[in-house]
Amino acid sequence: MAETKSKSNARGAWSGQLGFILAAVGSAIGLGNIWRFPGVAYENGGGAFIVPYLCALLAIGLPILLLDYAIGHRFHGTPPLAFRRINKKAEFIGWWHVGVCFVIMTYYAVILAWSFRYIFFAVTNAWGDDPQKFFFTKFLETSSQTAVIGSPVWGVMIPLALMWVVVVGIIALGVQKGVERANKIFIPLLVIVFAALVVRALLLPGAMEGLNSFFTPDWSAIAKPKVWMAAFAQIFFSMSAGFGIMLTYASYLRRKSNLTGTALVAGFANSSFEILAGIGVFSALGFMAYQQGVQVSDLEGLSGISLAFITFPKIISMMPGGAFFGILFFVSLTLAGVTSLLSLVQVVSGAFADKFGWPVKRAAILLGSLAGVISLVLYGTTSGMGAVDTVDAFINSVGVVFATILMAVAVSWVWPKLKPLRDHLNVLSTVHVGRWWTWMIRLFIPLFLGIMLVLSIKDYLCEGYGEYPTWYVAAFGWGCVALCAVFAVVFPLVKWRDEESLEGEHDLSNVDWIKEAQK
Ligand code: ALA
Repeated sequence: MAETKSKSNARGAWSGQLGFILAAVGSAIGLGNIWRFPGVAYENGGGAFIVPYLCALLAIGLPILLLDYAIGHRFHGTPPLAFRRINKKAEFIGWWHVGVCFVIMTYYAVILAWSFRYIFFAVTNAWGDDPQKFFFTKFLETSSQTAVIGSPVWGVMIPLALMWVVVVGIIALGVQKGVERANKIFIPLLVIVFAALVVRALLLPGAMEGLNSFFTPDWSAIAKPKVWMAAFAQIFFSMSAGFGIMLTYASYLRRKSNLTGTALVAGFANSSFEILAGIGVFSALGFMAYQQGVQVSDLEGLSGISLAFITFPKIISMMPGGAFFGILFFVSLTLAGVTSLLSLVQVVSGAFADKFGWPVKRAAILLGSLAGVISLVLYGTTSGMGAVDTVDAFINSVGVVFATILMAVAVSWVWPKLKPLRDHLNVLSTVHVGRWWTWMIRLFIPLFLGIMLVLSIKDYLCEGYGEYPTWYVAAFGWGCVALCAVFAVVFPLVKWRDEESLEGEHDLSNVDWIKEAQK
């Protein structure tokens, strides 16, 4: 079915494959690569983690990434529009994806705001001798009482508001002039800054011991189901696959696009960056252990938020020329995060633009302001830390996994589309997708993820989450999952502004121009 030129222009489009690849890589490489991966890998078997990680990448990450590309490109829309084009009753799946992105973007922006602030703290070594006390008490002013909304923390709120203004401004400029251009500047910059950081880290005394502890395999780990779960959870978040982002980005690709080639480039660029981050982080940890005369395994705070905002500041304080190293680290974290935040906001703003026929600018400003206010109120206060922690855990282990299961089951069993989607991927692509792909999506992925989801839910219901009281876990943990459900139930009931827009799709199978293009 031919899509009209004006419709395509109204949604926006990448200028070409390069713009798309940079945006896709920018979305994939994010906080997950720098603060999540090194710690997750270390805690789950070090060098041996590479086995479950590669299996997760090949068995789930890449197949789901390809599915995202195929649905987004063929049905030429953000998740609600693409699923609506698959079937009227499938639209709710798209809104679940939008809900997940909405929840993630509200807290993701806060970690970015912290990181941005830390660039300046690194210059003056503001954390002094006690980065932990500085982070929780002086910077976040974390309250000892668990509350839904604490008192405002201006030191977080101001950079957070600034982050939102920048991101909304970029999204409002449109896909090509905004998102693509920003990625064309930020991604090469990130690569340069991060490469300088890794080289500096490798030259530190003790770096080799750090790398040894990172890469030394603990083979007993791969017998543990927990380690496999960690690998699969890491892959989704890190590749931005399975919850609407890549589907949305692929919807702005022109008709004549090499889908599988770009998916492979984006997937492997993301994993390579992840390994590079592990090398940089563990070289620096090796240096820290060397300075303290201990083993890397004796160090504390090797994962997540503590790694970035407590352990790294400690390392920066110990190093000659630490301020420079600190700036490199926090600039990298901020750049990587901004390009991922852009992709999350694009899903939400693009979905509303598709549904209500809003101009890009209006959608960006309305949705961005709403998300910005929520993130300021919930996370920019003295109770923000607990909220970030709880929402991050639930939305990833429940919201994202469920989003992927819904998508895989819908196109395999309920409204079978895998055959045309596979053909669609193969028409113009350099690397052809075989039948294995269909079977992974149809059987392995729903089964495996289904088990993972049931185990996570059971765990949360029986054990709660962390030290938080039950009401708090209900409000933030289950609350954010409930918000996705509200999106999925309410928005499909709302009428499409432009019923005609439901017609267009890139059906590559029966058009002659393909043969022309291939001559
Ligand atoms: N893919 C993004 C990250 O790794 C969301 O942070």
